Amino acid sequence: MKHGDGSLASEAEEPSPCFLFLLLKIWDNKKKTRKQLRSMEIDLKDGKLVMIREAEKKDAEQIIEFYNKVGGETDFLSFGKDEFQKDAEEYSRSIEEAHLADNSIMLLALLDNKIISIATIHSSQKPRNRHVGTLGIVISKEFTGLGLGRILMERLIEWTKQNGVTKRISLVTREDNIPAIALYKKLGFQEEGLIIGDTYINGIYYNTLLMGLSFDSIKHT
Ligand SMILES: CC(C)(COP(=O)(O)OP(=O)(O)OC[C@H]1O[C@@H](n2cnc3c(N)ncnc32)[C@H](O)[C@@H]1OP(=O)(O)O)[C@@H](O)C(=O)NCCC(=O)NCCS
Repeated sequence: MKHGDGSLASEAEEPSPCFLFLLLKIWDNKKKTRKQLRSMEIDLKDGKLVMIREAEKKDAEQIIEFYNKVGGETDFLSFGKDEFQKDAEEYSRSIEEAHLADNSIMLLALLDNKIISIATIHSSQKPRNRHVGTLGIVISKEFTGLGLGRILMERLIEWTKQNGVTKRISLVTREDNIPAIALYKKLGFQEEGLIIGDTYINGIYYNTLLMGLSFDSIKHT
């Protein structure tokens, strides 16, 4: 039965066994996808073996350290060297929140137990926005151009398609970040808009490109 606002009301108060089975199956699939991501080894183009897994609370300090380091390796992030100042205890709680949410995930790539890349999908829990995942990715300079960016992006896209919530991935990047834009386009992202001059580095203003990847249910509305 339809409500005036288009939402659906259940016919009976008690959920049917069939409905419960479906819920259990969705929950089980979600668990499986997270588990598959939790420990996966991949080969970089130079033959190095890298472990990809979901971030855990205990990684907080190393993650903050990593962001502060890579902030100094590239001008394509929203922060520079040592500008990612966070309290490790507080940050570990955000990691746990992302872990428990069905629409957020933080993936780490590690070489010999050291973080070399972080790729994330962050989503709001607001009913009107929870279908949108915001993607962020950074790879330590020494390990760029070895195929890791593509692999992590593909994992995130695959995960969002299976989490049962996300219908769209948004991202922003500097308009002149040619390698990143090339990668995003290869994976189906489209340019959706330009914010003029919202990044300021060493006396220069840079434009920000908005990009998005919408899944079928959005494309057809
Ligand atoms: C952008 C970034 C995530 C890409 O990851 P990466 O591991 O270096 O990229 P990959 O080696 O997986 O290459 C991805 C693809 O882009 C292509 N590519 C790279 N540079 C390119 C360029 N200048 N022009 C066209 N294509 C390019 C590669 O050929 C590759 O294509 P393929 O997979 O079909 O072979 C990584 O370089 C990075 O973290 N840079 C610094 C921080 C940053 O810019 N983050 C993004 C902020 S929005």
